[in-house]
Amino acid sequence: MEKLIIKGASKLNGEVVISGAKNSSLPILAATILAEGTYHIGNIPALRDINTMFKLLENVGVSSEFKNNSAVINNKNTDSFEAPYELVKTMRASIVMLGPLVAKKGKAKVSLPGGCAIGERPVDLHIAALEKMGAKIEVKDGYIFAECEKLQGTEIVFDKVTVTGTENIMMAASLSSGTTILKNAAQEPEVQDLAAFLRKMGADIEGDGTNTIIIKGKEKLHSADHSIMPDRIEAGTFLCAVAGVGGDIILKKCPVKSMDAIIEKLRLAGLQVNIIDDETIHAKMDGEIKAVDVKTAPYPAFPTDMQAQFMAVMLKSNGVSVINESIFENRFMHVPELKRMGADITLNDSNAVVKGVHSFSGAHVMASDLRASAGLVIAALMADNESTVHRIYHLDRGYEGFEVKLNKLGANIVRASDNE
Ligand code: UD1
Repeated sequence: MEKLIIKGASKLNGEVVISGAKNSSLPILAATILAEGTYHIGNIPALRDINTMFKLLENVGVSSEFKNNSAVINNKNTDSFEAPYELVKTMRASIVMLGPLVAKKGKAKVSLPGGCAIGERPVDLHIAALEKMGAKIEVKDGYIFAECEKLQGTEIVFDKVTVTGTENIMMAASLSSGTTILKNAAQEPEVQDLAAFLRKMGADIEGDGTNTIIIKGKEKLHSADHSIMPDRIEAGTFLCAVAGVGGDIILKKCPVKSMDAIIEKLRLAGLQVNIIDDETIHAKMDGEIKAVDVKTAPYPAFPTDMQAQFMAVMLKSNGVSVINESIFENRFMHVPELKRMGADITLNDSNAVVKGVHSFSGAHVMASDLRASAGLVIAALMADNESTVHRIYHLDRGYEGFEVKLNKLGANIVRASDNE
């Protein structure tokens, strides 16, 4: 297993180019199941989760060549319709295969994603929505078996805002009979990127980016080309890094318009954010970090995927910050690790109360999930001396060349394997 050895306390200066969004790439790649033909998809980040998605697609007759962040994808529409456990267990987002498989092939066998570090994360809402569209679904032997000759449009009101649930149903409904009205839908920019791609494939979708999405089903869709939107969470992570350690950076190819809540909270924390244009941000930090409260919630509010990184910034604030996690019930796995470094954090149900300290030391810490890993790396950069972040395979699931990009900004991070 690999780890990162991080020397703390160097400021970050220079330019960083933001990669394509993982959470937009995954459903867009799954959407290629919906129509035969050749697709050219650009700006895909080279990540472990993306490789997993390519393997899942290969399994159902969709082959890809992936080079220099671009994929040429060929859908030959074979009879296979299974997303096996060996692949799904490494990536919960594999569930986005379910909607496209049932809609296109009339059948799907998708391994049930297991529990994971950040909470139970059930898929009941995906299943209930597809059942309402006429699919017969059975869960047995750890698999979801779904069958339906032709899905029927209907009205679906999600009990909870679910991002991949919204995406699954949007894809399925695009290739169904009749009209589907999705209420309490997720409004995330990645849902909008998927909708834009589906429209290029011939789908009729309106209302994405609001909480009501209307999809008029089509008999057939066709292949299309697309460039994936940039990753707002990666961009936000770099903003947190500079807010934590100080410095002066420029983010390029950055999805500025989708980052309002992140930018607002970081400005309150003292980061000077100058928006140069739609895809460029200049961020500078040279004063003390101010304590700011934050509550995670569905878009356009502050994203749960930024909670751990923001908490790292608050470790050295000038006061007390209350961080409320409202999306996932167990997303504070980084807290005990941060406390090992000398952080002052008290957990109280869904609240983490972070009392700023002047300085803290480096330590050996263990990454528990993707965004927690990023939080630990930022904390390690803010520490007085050296830290080692173990189990960074979590980080590699979602950040393209994270330490390479940070080192270009002046950080001192070495990747090593556990037996070195
Ligand atoms: C997506 C993102 C993930 C992000 C999360 C919340 C992708 C690939 N992943 O995950 O990075 O952290 O949104 O912004 O885009 N829920 C149910 N039943 C369901 C589905 C969800 O109870 O059937 C609950 C979840 O447990 C959670 C909440 O709804 O409490 C939101 O989860 P959801 O938006 O579905 O997360 P994902 O789509 O898995």
